[in-house]
Amino acid sequence: MAEYISNSPEETKKIAKKIAKTLKPGNVMYLYGELGSGKTVFVKGICAGLGIGEEITSPSFVIATEYRGTLVVAHIDLYRLQRGQAGDLPIEEYILQDGVTVIEWADRIDVLKRGISVNIDIINRKKRVIKIEDLRN
Ligand SMILES: Nc1ncnc2c1ncn2[C@@H]1O[C@H](COP(=O)(O)OP(=O)(O)OP(=O)(O)O)[C@@H](O)[C@H]1O
Ligand SMILES: [Mg+2]
Repeated sequence: MAEYISNSPEETKKIAKKIAKTLKPGNVMYLYGELGSGKTVFVKGICAGLGIGEEITSPSFVIATEYRGTLVVAHIDLYRLQRGQAGDLPIEEYILQDGVTVIEWADRIDVLKRGISVNIDIINRKKRVIKIEDLRN
């Protein structure tokens, strides 16, 4: 388990970029943290680290968005899903074998696959504690 302190969105992106460099096809990242903690900011850093120039958004009525960089990234946001309801969602079908899958609000699902868990805690307006557990094998 690695623990980082971030004092700005830019710092959060920098931490994510470093991890992006280690990603391999088939890797999954599970993101946890309350509203506005910085999960999407973290995804932006991952995408930047994979050479994706496109703007990353969290579309309201789409579950998954794909971006193409040095790897393909599937960005999944489960916010609108109630826990329990996710049982109906075939999440495995969204996980890319030949790309990277990043899942916001991963607490909505049971983690099915080995991957990297990222937990972001809000300390104050700009300060975050980011804990990263790498359980890839
Ligand atoms: N150290 C920091 N790291 C990340 N974001 C920060 C930091 N400090 C302030 N922020 C701000 O916090 C907000 C984080 O928003 P973001 O959309 O990434 O959160 P989120 O966890 O994805 O929220 P949601 O649950 O709504 O998807 C942004 O407005 C960002 O500018
Ligand atoms: Mg978000």
